[in-house]
Amino acid sequence: MPNVVVVGAQWGDEGKGKIVDLLTQYADVVVRFQGGNNAGHTLVVDGEKTVLHLIPSGILHPGKSCVIGNGVVCDPEVLVTEIDRLKAKGFLKDDGQLVVSLDAHVIMPWHKAIDIAREKAMGEGKIGTTGRGIGPTYEDKVARRGVRIRDLLDEARLARKVKDRAALAREELARLGATPDLDDAAIVKKFAELGRRIAAYATDVSIWLHRALQNGKQLLFEGAQGTMLDVDHGTYPFVTSSNTVAGNAVVGCGLGPTAVDYVLGISKAYSTRVGGGPYPTELKDETGERLRKIGGEYGATTGRPRRTGWLDALALRYAARVNGLSGIAMTKLDVLTGFDTVKIAVGYRVGGKVLDEMPSDPELIERCEPVYEELPGWSEKLEHLRTWDDLPPRARAYVKRVEELVGVKVIGCSVGADRGETILVENPFRVGKK
Ligand code: IMP
Repeated sequence: MPNVVVVGAQWGDEGKGKIVDLLTQYADVVVRFQGGNNAGHTLVVDGEKTVLHLIPSGILHPGKSCVIGNGVVCDPEVLVTEIDRLKAKGFLKDDGQLVVSLDAHVIMPWHKAIDIAREKAMGEGKIGTTGRGIGPTYEDKVARRGVRIRDLLDEARLARKVKDRAALAREELARLGATPDLDDAAIVKKFAELGRRIAAYATDVSIWLHRALQNGKQLLFEGAQGTMLDVDHGTYPFVTSSNTVAGNAVVGCGLGPTAVDYVLGISKAYSTRVGGGPYPTELKDETGERLRKIGGEYGATTGRPRRTGWLDALALRYAARVNGLSGIAMTKLDVLTGFDTVKIAVGYRVGGKVLDEMPSDPELIERCEPVYEELPGWSEKLEHLRTWDDLPPRARAYVKRVEELVGVKVIGCSVGADRGETILVENPFRVGKK
């Protein structure tokens, strides 16, 4: 019974939510293993839009379970709001559908305040974080002073933790020139209340998933952000604070590497990035603006305009390597309709040389100029197409060229925002170990 990991193969926002939503019909359980509400998955089902930041998008399928693993940093207010909104829309009728790890770290008010104050203090050199407190929460986890979901369920323990940590936070915030409104008693009261709302979902996820596997359930691991934002393998320091690559899927939920059979990387047919950091194929011209406009490239979480550019085969090949990709799903192929020619970066020119692999030094990446291969564009609309053979020959040639350059099969293409607007050539849940 294959278990499949879905990860972003670029800088995030690749359309993972849509592919996960599509594949959920073949899985029994959808697991989030890292990140927090810095992610934003926009799903369109029968024309109706739902944006989820924390709960796996599989929740829109009745009868499927969704798991928030220990590797996720959880803002309990966001979690409760999403639960309420889903219920108001008629989803999550059965509370057993949602499972939250007792060990997931909690984003506390000081984490958000520190995230925002630090970015402000950094000025020009800022990371461009989502301001959701993600980095400071992971920092506290590693510094072994974090608050976990289990602490919200025990008010006395929570009060002890808040007292110690809030004092430190006040010092840091004062140094940063911020004047936070951190009232310990009010925080304890509010978070204990949030804990009571979450208690019904909180459990030992490792045991829960282990039993699910023993009972033959199929798992779908849903990555957030993208490979180039991985804290180890991304363009450090312009990265998020967790490991976004496939290897972390099992660490972030308490299973072992043998639980994964197939790794699916999601890539747009072009590229985007939000926030600062190197991005060689970025287009700061009319073409970039056109991609932004047609692709609707504005952040699902912050509403920020995304930086846009052509597809980067070096970045994608890098993602194939560090994730061990078994296949790629290419999203938003329809956005490229109408361009006379479409380009793919096949090398980087720097210091009189042409590199054919992504350098590991982000400062070097910053100086790289892309070397493009130019392919003929296509003018046909793609949204209504449902099979590979329906695609115009030039669109097929583009996808095939990407496949050749990256060395990984493109097993599906998305040709529109709706769940149905997808061409799936190979189903990862049907091919088994790869
Ligand atoms: P943080 O994760 O909020 O700390 O932000 C760190 C970097 O990751 C910033 O450049 C963000 O724009 C970027 N980032 C975080 N989450 C996402 C996402 O879901 N999509 C795209 N970029 C993201």
